[in-house]
Amino acid sequence: MREYKIAAIPADGIGPEVIAAGLQALVALARRDGGFGFDVTSFDWGSDRYKKTGTLMPEDGVEQLKTFDAIFFGAVGAPDVPDHITLWGLRLPICQGFDQYANVRPTRILPGIHSPLEGVGPGDLDWVIVRENSEGEYAGSGGRAHKGLPEEVGTEVAIFTRVGVTRIMRYAFRLAQSRPRKFLTVVTKSNAQRHGMVMWDEIAAEVSEEFPDVSWDKMLVDAMTVRMVKQPQSLDTIVATNLHADILSDLAGALAGSLGVAPTANIDPERRYPSMFEPIHGSAFDITGKGIANPVATFWTAAQMLDHLGEADAAKRLMIAVEQVCADGVMTPDVGGTATTRQVTDAVCEAIRGAN
Ligand code: NAI
Ligand code: MG
Repeated sequence: MREYKIAAIPADGIGPEVIAAGLQALVALARRDGGFGFDVTSFDWGSDRYKKTGTLMPEDGVEQLKTFDAIFFGAVGAPDVPDHITLWGLRLPICQGFDQYANVRPTRILPGIHSPLEGVGPGDLDWVIVRENSEGEYAGSGGRAHKGLPEEVGTEVAIFTRVGVTRIMRYAFRLAQSRPRKFLTVVTKSNAQRHGMVMWDEIAAEVSEEFPDVSWDKMLVDAMTVRMVKQPQSLDTIVATNLHADILSDLAGALAGSLGVAPTANIDPERRYPSMFEPIHGSAFDITGKGIANPVATFWTAAQMLDHLGEADAAKRLMIAVEQVCADGVMTPDVGGTATTRQVTDAVCEAIRGAN
């Protein structure tokens, strides 16, 4: 039997609620299949630990995760801890420590879920956003001088390297090539940002020559928001910088019905280190503990994890079960339903058991 070592980091807010649901679905899939299983270790890292000990994870936290096949992550962030501390204390050290440079965010309108876009339904919006995940605007470069004085300065320096841009561009072209439309949109802001962004455009043109069967076009990020809303059918695979894709993918999630259905994978394509799978959403303080967090984003990211582990059949089975349950109207309130997290999870597990 194939056994996968999974590190679960549920962390904060609704993180533990949705990760528990995701693990329940993974167990149902393993039982149904019989050919693989999971050895799950849960880590109690996050804001509660920070409040008690001063750090979100132990000093050797990243080292501890090294031997796992994949990381299954909830969300980090608490109302009484500044967001830059939680993000830089847990999620970013893992992404950057394991050089998970490709952040992959599929978006589709699932059956039964309504897009806020009029007349747009399943099939009209089927995108994968590839986000550069190791540098750019989130490289952490910058600083503050004259702190607290009237002349205080803060700098936030975006770092774009030829190696970093080339590898994400190759990843995006390859992903576009694997999809039926073989079409990539490269997003920049190379009119106003005339150094790093112009280099993006140049490298996109260079890498495109390695993929003659992939067609591609370019968009400025501001115009891209308009195209996503007005012509969702005109897009397929999208590549953008860390910041731009962060923003565009929240918009994509909302256009597909809710942030509660949007998944993400932080991938080390070279497989030197474990990759990390998480819903896009945060800890959602407003609904924490109410039992109504939408688990679909976490199921979808579990399917991405299965794909990455080589269990493509199980990944497909999970998505078919999720789509069936959504089509049946068993949905949480964020997508217009009345079901609880538990009811959606039980229905998905039931559909997995019943699937051929
Ligand atoms: P959020 O994603 O937590 O919530 C935004 C809105 O979407 C809220 O109204 C929430 O109820 C709703 N929502 C999100 N996920 C949902 C789900 N699964 N089911 C139903 N409704 C859902 O973003 P917000 O409010 O900006 O951030 C809250 C905290 O989460 C902050 O501390 C932030 O830093 C952190 N955060 C963490 C992320 C991560 O760990 N990767 C990502 C985004 C935010
Ligand atoms: Mg975000």
